[in-house]
Amino acid sequence: MRQMTAVILAAGQGTRMKSNKPKVLHEAMHKPLVQYVITAVHHADIEDICIVVGHGADEVKKALGEEGYIYALQEQQLGTGHALMQAMPVLPPSDSIMVLCGDTPLLTDTTLQQLREYFTATEAACTIMTTVLPDGGNYGRIVRDANDEVAAIVEARDASAEELAIGEINSGVYCFDREALTMVIDKLTPNNSQGEYYLTDIISELRAIGKKVNAYVCQDADEIMGVNDRYQLFQASEILRKRKNMALMLSGVTMVDPNTVYIDDTVEISPDCIIEPQVYIEGVCRIGSGCHIGPSVKISNSVLGDNCEVGPFCYLRPGTVLANGVKAGHFVEIKKSHVGSGSKVPHLSYIGDAEIGEGVNIGCGTITCNYDGKNKYSTTIEDEAFIGCNTNLVAPVTVGHRSTIAAGSTITEDVPEDSLAIARGRQRNIKGWTEAKDPRYKNNDE
Ligand code: UD1
Ligand code: CA
Repeated sequence: MRQMTAVILAAGQGTRMKSNKPKVLHEAMHKPLVQYVITAVHHADIEDICIVVGHGADEVKKALGEEGYIYALQEQQLGTGHALMQAMPVLPPSDSIMVLCGDTPLLTDTTLQQLREYFTATEAACTIMTTVLPDGGNYGRIVRDANDEVAAIVEARDASAEELAIGEINSGVYCFDREALTMVIDKLTPNNSQGEYYLTDIISELRAIGKKVNAYVCQDADEIMGVNDRYQLFQASEILRKRKNMALMLSGVTMVDPNTVYIDDTVEISPDCIIEPQVYIEGVCRIGSGCHIGPSVKISNSVLGDNCEVGPFCYLRPGTVLANGVKAGHFVEIKKSHVGSGSKVPHLSYIGDAEIGEGVNIGCGTITCNYDGKNKYSTTIEDEAFIGCNTNLVAPVTVGHRSTIAAGSTITEDVPEDSLAIARGRQRNIKGWTEAKDPRYKNNDE
């Protein structure tokens, strides 16, 4: 395979997003669009990546990190051809270059590999990745000559009615022989409806000096989808979501209604889990086998062991770790806490900054009071403790091994092991109180 450097064009403003944020940083399934392109390039074994930044350059660099990439600055966004011109002087030596757009999150590494193999095998000066659509929309059209060779790319805005009817479109991904590219890139001019240097004009320039240009036709049209506005952002997110759900189902996870399930790419779920409707699992999560999750559950940056039961209506926030066989039931919120195996938080509780041992039962309505308005404090509940209903645990506090907290207690001091703690007003019954208040209720038996 020919040695290759990737250039990702990410300098555009993305006017059609109608946003202050650079387009390539808009997120699909909680990941910036350009990050998907970077990941696909990396997985296609291309090490050197140059990212062309311009609009919101600092923001883009900050989001992606300075390390690991070569950045080129396109100060004025004068078009995709102009963007590539800015990259050329800073590229490391390599005899070929893959150019991609930062707004195509659905590309897969497999397809990029195939494009690269086709480019290498056919010894072309340029291979364009194309696909065929029923309606080419705003994509550039691939114009072929009488011998069916690629002759030019015509942008939709500049195309004739005849050209607009062409189904084969430009994905915006190209492989170039570096020497051939260098020979023509300075010939681009902004003589078109937009007054921009179109990268797509490179094709006719290469043909004009007798270079070989061909196309690798991607069979899955979804993959090449470029995101230009918020509706397309939604469409791309939907495809990513469905891909993830399908992969999980095929790996042994049951989904009762995958149409309402949102699981980030960074989530791992083991086989034999059941996911009910309206489940959101975000960030880096690992979920063991045999868990039953939902309906209506949100889990974010958490780890679950095997056979956990979560929901309905449960929110597991970042830093939550549930060991095997834990139950977190209805209207329960757990944050940055570790819950030991077999422990249960079945209903209406808030558990934050807590370390809960094994075999613990947390009664309905228990609250860890972990915040005094300034600082957060932790709660420790040791193995086999029993927390009665409607308990407040004012942190920092520890409930010892096998101890019981009486229902309705507000616990402000540590409870030693094997003890009962009661911390509430003692009950007093006042006989005849009702009658004294209202004579209609006078007790006739007397
Ligand atoms: C481009 C192609 C079109 C193709 C489509 C595929 C051109 C002229 N047109 O159109 O043929 O079908 O992609 O999705 O190339 N960018 C810069 N600097 C600029 C302008 C753009 O870095 O000055 C970057 C953008 O950030 C974006 C990418 O280039 O990531 C593509 O730009 P965009 O304006 O979206 O091009 P399209 O109109 O979609
Ligand atoms: Ca685009």
